[in-house]
Amino acid sequence: MGCFPCGGGSNKKTKKEDQIPPPSGEKSEKASRSASSKDGPVDVKKEGASSESNGSQQISAQTFTFRELAAATRNFRPDCFLGEGGFGKVYKGRLESSNQVAIKQLDQNGLQGNREFLVEVLMLSLLHHTNLVNLIGYCADGDQRLLVYEYMALGSLENHLHDLTSEKKRLDWNTRMKIAAGAAKGLEYLHDKATPPVIYRDLKCSNILLGEGFHPKLSDFGLAKLAPVGDNSHVSTRVMGTYGYCAPEYAMTGQLTIKSDIYSFGVVLLELITGRRAIDTSKTAGEQNLVAWVSSLPRSQIVIIRKFFVFMVVILMI
Ligand SMILES: Nc1ncnc2c1ncn2[C@@H]1O[C@H](COP(=O)(O)OP(=O)(O)OP(=O)(O)O)[C@@H](O)[C@H]1O
Ligand SMILES: [Mg+2]
Repeated sequence: MGCFPCGGGSNKKTKKEDQIPPPSGEKSEKASRSASSKDGPVDVKKEGASSESNGSQQISAQTFTFRELAAATRNFRPDCFLGEGGFGKVYKGRLESSNQVAIKQLDQNGLQGNREFLVEVLMLSLLHHTNLVNLIGYCADGDQRLLVYEYMALGSLENHLHDLTSEKKRLDWNTRMKIAAGAAKGLEYLHDKATPPVIYRDLKCSNILLGEGFHPKLSDFGLAKLAPVGDNSHVSTRVMGTYGYCAPEYAMTGQLTIKSDIYSFGVVLLELITGRRAIDTSKTAGEQNLVAWVSSLPRSQIVIIRKFFVFMVVILMI
């Protein structure tokens, strides 16, 4: 993948935006299909679904006041802090109803904003599946933007694959397969069951959250797009995604298709097989990009990785 232009990102939290203007004559980002556009709601054929879906669903998420969420996290106390991404900080909280939740607070000076917030609320209000994280509600008091999710007790796949501590055991092969299969089912739901289909655009290990028993759920839909319908083969967009996971043809042309997610899924499979990060700037130049590194291996080693890869894909298809 030597021609892949997204290789410059060194900070994994540095979201996203290697912006390439859409090729001339094609629709701009604003005009292209997105969940926040006037295209209408997503109609979903349910699987593990928790609400009605007939193409005219109402937003199912609850609204919270800032005061309620401050109380749930005991004023965003540091010991409730779970982690931080491009959107902002994430805290563990407990609602009055006694539910444990994860609360993500928009960083007002951060890289993401209202648009991602709106797309996240819309998408997760309309899409329901056992392998997608459940959005419980949101807060849009004044300038505050917070998202309230079900709490995923085991954190993200990234936490379990990389930077292991002595308390955290290396994932066994069966668990890796279970996670890959669950993530694939979530993706299949977005691509094949939602109408129109949804392109996720942000599939990566940190967005695969793990519940009890390592049950995986896809999270973070702020970049999701409605897929092209009819004769259109792609959606033209600004290139958004995360370095190392972004399909090269999308990064080069801005033409987004469902296959872009499949490329990202392939990178996640490679991470599960090799235990290496998609991008690892602590390694030497030739080893920083996982896909480029695997491609540069001697043929005999590529054959072994390919066997694992094919094995995983075949199991996923059963
Ligand atoms: N619903 C949740 N339950 C438990 N932990 C969560 C939940 N959502 C997020 N987290 C934790 O919060 C941390 C930050 O997540 P976040 O999605 O904001 O960032 P990220 O995925 O690491 O980066 P990016 O912004 O690029 O997607 C992650 O380490 C994740 O483990
Ligand atoms: Mg995330």
